[in-house]
Amino acid sequence: MNIGLIGLGGVGRAFIQLLEMKKEEFGNLRIVFLLNSNSGIIDCDGIELNDVLEYLKENKDLSRYKGGFSKWNLDEVIKASNADCLVELTPTNKETGEPALSYIRCGMEIGLHVVTGNKGPILIDYKGLKQLAKEKGVSLGIGATTGGALPSIAGGEYGLRGSRILGVRGVLNGTTNYILSLMEEEGLDYLEALSMAQREGIAEANPKMDVEGFDTAIKMLIISNTMLNQDITLDEVEIEGITGIGIGDIEEAKMVGKRIKLMGETYYDGDRLKIRVHPKLIDKDSIFYNVMGKNKGVEYITDTLGEVAILGGASNVLGAAASVLRDILNIRRW
Ligand SMILES: NC(=O)c1ccc[n+]([C@@H]2O[C@H](COP(=O)([O-])OP(=O)(O)OC[C@H]3O[C@@H](n4cnc5c(N)ncnc54)[C@H](OP(=O)(O)O)[C@@H]3O)[C@@H](O)[C@H]2O)c1
Repeated sequence: MNIGLIGLGGVGRAFIQLLEMKKEEFGNLRIVFLLNSNSGIIDCDGIELNDVLEYLKENKDLSRYKGGFSKWNLDEVIKASNADCLVELTPTNKETGEPALSYIRCGMEIGLHVVTGNKGPILIDYKGLKQLAKEKGVSLGIGATTGGALPSIAGGEYGLRGSRILGVRGVLNGTTNYILSLMEEEGLDYLEALSMAQREGIAEANPKMDVEGFDTAIKMLIISNTMLNQDITLDEVEIEGITGIGIGDIEEAKMVGKRIKLMGETYYDGDRLKIRVHPKLIDKDSIFYNVMGKNKGVEYITDTLGEVAILGGASNVLGAAASVLRDILNIRRW
């Protein structure tokens, strides 16, 4: 399979590294083009991965690499490259889904399978993209959008086949789970735990998306809309983050043998399925009680397979890249 990759940030580079690491096993997966915002390279015989990784350590501008160019148009690049699959790893825009939405549509229009780690386009137009994929006879892989390495979509899609998913709940944000774990284990207040997580590179300089619950809400929304066939929008989700949690709340929970987790969960309001994200007291007998640090977990409630949980998964860029690889291999399989 010939792969074209857009977006050479943390996950994009980790994906190149992963294919290089696993070349004995997956030597038939070739990268035929690489694009970042202002430059790119095409090599229809397969780009030399080690070489380009070395180059990228020092340079962002691919136009000076052999076969490189500065301005590009995706349609022309795809046609010149003989790619079968587009991997889209550009930054997330949750308001418009762009530029990823246009890139994904362009790839599918030409007949490429697409795998993305980008929540933006899935949040904005999952149904439209699914429809386009169906019309063009291609697949859309979105596993890395809902918890990186955690196989929340793959596990639900293939592992729960034949059952009806009635509901879902999860601890889906590693940063907030890490902050809450620090508060409990180190006795830190919220702001102290947040700045420690920032110093360790776990929380971003602007942590709003994570700590105010939006990241969890978006992941819950994608899981619910894709796996439970819903049509919920972000403004319908009730969202409360962890910014109001103090050390006193953590200690009170501990005294009664519980922990506070930022949970995303579906529930029924009459016959309408809704989503809420909120800090919740978790009992010792819940499977989420021991999901600590950067770990994540998702649990599906089904009609015939019972309650099925998936926990753990690497919380780093290599794990996210491995989730992209999983989607590519599943495209070839199903
Ligand atoms: N980081 C994670 O662990 C993780 C996990 C799961 C999913 N994701 C998602 O995966 C995606 C990539 O994440 P990341 O951490 O690798 O991001 P990142 O480090 O910010 O890298 C983004 C890349 O996209 C390129 N880019 C920006 N605008 C572009 C445009 N208009 N056209 C083409 N390329 C463009 C950038 O190129 P320039 O440098 O040239 O601007 C850069 O190479 C995001 O949507 C993220 O939410 C990330």
